[in-house]
Amino acid sequence: MGKKIFSGVQPTGNLHLGNYLGAIKNFVKLNNEDQNECVFCVVDLHAITVAQNPKKLKDNIYETIATFIACGIDPKKSIIFNQSSVSAHSETAWILSCVARMGWLNRMTQFKEKAGKDKEKASIGLYSYPVLMAADILLYDTTHVPVGDDQKQHLELCRDIAQKFNNDFNADNFFKIPEPLIQKEFSRIMSLRDGTKKMSKSELSDLSRINLTDDKEQIINKIKKAKTDTLQLPSASADLEKRPEAKNLMGIYSSLMDVSLEDTINKFSGKNFSEFKENLSQVMVDKIYPISLEIKKLLREKKYLDKILLEGTQKADKIASEKVKKIQELVGF
Ligand code: TYM
Repeated sequence: MGKKIFSGVQPTGNLHLGNYLGAIKNFVKLNNEDQNECVFCVVDLHAITVAQNPKKLKDNIYETIATFIACGIDPKKSIIFNQSSVSAHSETAWILSCVARMGWLNRMTQFKEKAGKDKEKASIGLYSYPVLMAADILLYDTTHVPVGDDQKQHLELCRDIAQKFNNDFNADNFFKIPEPLIQKEFSRIMSLRDGTKKMSKSELSDLSRINLTDDKEQIINKIKKAKTDTLQLPSASADLEKRPEAKNLMGIYSSLMDVSLEDTINKFSGKNFSEFKENLSQVMVDKIYPISLEIKKLLREKKYLDKILLEGTQKADKIASEKVKKIQELVGF
């Protein structure tokens, strides 16, 4: 039986290699399996949990859609839309925020990381954002959610919320309990400057990430400058455990080449980083640079992007508005 897939990406700019290898590459694979129904959402309501420049936000929404398509998502075989244009997401998020418990949200590690030391100054939206994410997923009777490793805890919360709602309102199976799809390997791509930190859009140094809009020279330069250690490349994966940078770069190479880490280790065992980096740059330019070119091309075709958005929004709205009606009935509205 086919899967019902839902996933989202925030339009906060600087979409990077981590977003691609951790999530979008998997969206494409699932989208290519004919029996699946796929919904891919640009989550602008999530983006405003931290301050955004309104003009830039609009540009970033286009850039995220262009990225989906440039990476290989087929808009004819999937629903691509923008979260804020389907009002059922906000409506459902409110209802679910009355089901979710403070204690559950207090455990979310991403909030703790993002809010930093001064939690009093974080927005309430940043705190309750996993509830909105649950609304996104549950509105579409989603069975599977492809995400990177950092979203695992939010998906567990989504499952808890769905179960509690079904129990509280005596509605067995009303919300489907979704399964996370997190790749076994390479589901957490790390910064090129520090192998212990996640590659992230908000990291100040642009050298820490490969942006999907980087040109050839930028890609080559960033790989050249990527942090390494002074040892030769290992002959066994156990030897990578205390070498986060080497592990990350070899993982990136493996993921781009669609081979296992073991294969990469065997290929480069005993070699030095300069030779490995040349190979890595080459495969990165081969796989990422065409995406970068395609994004830029699509961004010059705003009418085409608008058309995809409009069609996607209509389809998404039909599904979500029917579901939210049923939610409201169950609640007693
Ligand atoms: P966002 O926009 O932060 O990231 C989009 C996707 O990229 C993955 N990702 C990574 N994977 C591997 N290594 C990394 N360094 C890395 N950085 C990011 C994320 O895990 C994610 O899959 N809350 C979500 C968006 C969202 C969503 C949803 C996802 C909103 N509603 C419903 C699934 C279902 C987020 O902020 O992702």
